[in-house]
Amino acid sequence: MERVVAITGASAGIGRATALRLARDGAAIAICARREDKLKVVAGEIEQAGGRALPIVADVTSATDMARFVERTVSLYGRLDVVMCNAGYGLYGAIDTIAADQMHDVMNVNYFGTYHLLHAALPVLRKQNAGHIFVISSIVGQRGIPYMGAYSATKFAQVGLAECVRAELRDTPIKLSIVYPISTDTEFFKVMTEHSGFATRASGPRQSPDDVAQAIAAALERPVPEIYPQRIAKGLAVLNAIAPGFTDKLVKRWGRKPI
Ligand SMILES: NC(=O)c1ccc[n+]([C@@H]2O[C@H](COP(=O)([O-])OP(=O)(O)OC[C@H]3O[C@@H](n4cnc5c(N)ncnc54)[C@H](OP(=O)(O)O)[C@@H]3O)[C@@H](O)[C@H]2O)c1
Repeated sequence: MERVVAITGASAGIGRATALRLARDGAAIAICARREDKLKVVAGEIEQAGGRALPIVADVTSATDMARFVERTVSLYGRLDVVMCNAGYGLYGAIDTIAADQMHDVMNVNYFGTYHLLHAALPVLRKQNAGHIFVISSIVGQRGIPYMGAYSATKFAQVGLAECVRAELRDTPIKLSIVYPISTDTEFFKVMTEHSGFATRASGPRQSPDDVAQAIAAALERPVPEIYPQRIAKGLAVLNAIAPGFTDKLVKRWGRKPI
């Protein structure tokens, strides 16, 4: 039986790459985002790869949109196996330069978007007594880096929620994996520049969205609680637990900086 997968923020980047990857693996895909034209292109790519696609224009900040996304997916495909809370964007700047409405907006998309989708999808998964949830956090949801405080806070918030839900679901067949990507070559940095008002650069390692999609596809076959698509990144979380002061020095040196 084909897997039914629902992904938010699939008009670009990690969401698009994962949609295409899982479609090639035989899944039926529902994708959502705000830009209808981009979403239609991705739906066409999924169909070209031999998959089935349901593109739905939706905003993750809307509880109604997320309920509709889940309802339409289940009504077309008959079930829901994989839920990926992915839509999100970045914001750069010292916290005293971030306006309250900027902070609210990024929390609304990154954290509340995750909450709204989980709220809509969990009853379906519970009824089926099956399913796999992926919450796309970030390595900065494990360890903050300078001037990414507003964004990092949203990524920690997702992790707090996801860890609680994962523990609640223990002893059930429903799985939850938290994904911790490092810098990934997507539209993310262009969008972050638009929101922040200036461009930035990082000097650390990078990965492709296909690397993240590959790690998610592997975890679907062998569920794990946490996914570090760039494995060495887990070292930062471990180092921070042992030596947070030393880690401050490290992230200050290697963290993102204005161009
Ligand atoms: N790229 C990185 O370096 C990196 C690293 C760690 C974690 N992440 C996380 O990975 C996730 C995906 O990011 P990405 O790198 O793939 O970025 P991206 O290429 O900019 O893609 C972001 C996706 O989210 C969608 N989106 C944004 N706001 C939305 C909203 N309000 N409602 C619905 N969809 C919305 C965008 O589509 P529309 O504009 O069409 O709505 C787009 O499809 C994010 O949660 C990000 O925080 C990224």
